[in-house]
Amino acid sequence: MTSYQDAAQANQQVWIDLRSDTVTRPTAAMREAMANAEVGDDVYGDDPTVNELQARVAKLLGKQAGLFVASGTQSNLCALLAHCQRGDELLVGDCYHVHRYEAGGVSVLGGVMMEALATDHRGMMQPAAITKAVKPDDPHCPISRLLCLENTVSGHAHDVASIAGLAKAGRDSGLAVHLDGARLMNASVKLGVPARQLVEAVDSVSLCLSKGLGTPAGSVLVGSAEFIARARRMRKLVGGGMRQVGILAAAGLYALEHHIDRLADDHVAAHRLADQLGQIAKVTVNADLVETNMVFMQLPEGAADPLRAHLAGRGILLGTGDRTIRLVTHLDIDFLAIDQFTAEIADFFG
Ligand SMILES: Cc1ncc(COP(=O)(O)O)c(C=O)c1O
Repeated sequence: MTSYQDAAQANQQVWIDLRSDTVTRPTAAMREAMANAEVGDDVYGDDPTVNELQARVAKLLGKQAGLFVASGTQSNLCALLAHCQRGDELLVGDCYHVHRYEAGGVSVLGGVMMEALATDHRGMMQPAAITKAVKPDDPHCPISRLLCLENTVSGHAHDVASIAGLAKAGRDSGLAVHLDGARLMNASVKLGVPARQLVEAVDSVSLCLSKGLGTPAGSVLVGSAEFIARARRMRKLVGGGMRQVGILAAAGLYALEHHIDRLADDHVAAHRLADQLGQIAKVTVNADLVETNMVFMQLPEGAADPLRAHLAGRGILLGTGDRTIRLVTHLDIDFLAIDQFTAEIADFFG
């Protein structure tokens, strides 16, 4: 991973940052909406802008209620703690964020075990594997309580039938179903399906506002009113009750209005990136696997670190990885940035 410090050492301003879609800065119009937000103490439920955002996302996703939280990790954590008790287990895809990149929070804080199930190259689990993994009612076993899904998974957009098939397998075995929809709107835009249809079969959904939607922070968790009341208690427990946080919620409302349809531009940019990289001899990209805003670039052995350093010296940042590096398009990446980036890669490999 390269960082702003690496670029600064080479006296370069960062102008192309493909590490993630979390790196976007709020636009001038979003900052204006934030500055003008009406606020109140949200722990008392008094912040009108937060209340509006929660209601808007709940409606967007077809659920009764919403809860504004600081991050995607906190949203998933509050959801999992609200669904599960100590001694329960949840089933989750082996490559999903909840399992790999959230510090094991639900196990550390909630005494909840995670069983990771195999996923294919698009991040899909098999319904039969879910059924098989549910434990019998036996005191030797943890109590299988929850199934955790994700959409998109590494840029792959899972359709309504796929999500419904997985959710049905969980539900038929008595599991509740949570979906980490950090990038759910990318899936919705890609598939041309309203987000509420994509999550109809699940009980709770976490939607991130600070990824492709471009806000500085925040996620919204949605579900039944009774579930959200329990999640609100969990938010307090993890120290996530915030006060005049309508200034952040206003960015979320702005993003729902202005930054959903434009996700299609990020998808077009990702295809352009994949097509151009595919023409560079030393780089391999499977353009057929690009579905939304992520491209996975394969490099020759030993090339990643020198390439990262070379690009940082030109104000271009790359994420981690040795043979495979994830590139993510977003609000601050236009066609010029894509063309410049691929020209630099071509230059590096001579
Ligand atoms: C699929 C997915 N879920 C959850 C998260 C967690 O979001 P945050 O970084 O806001 O905690 C991420 C972050 O990248 C993610 O990619």
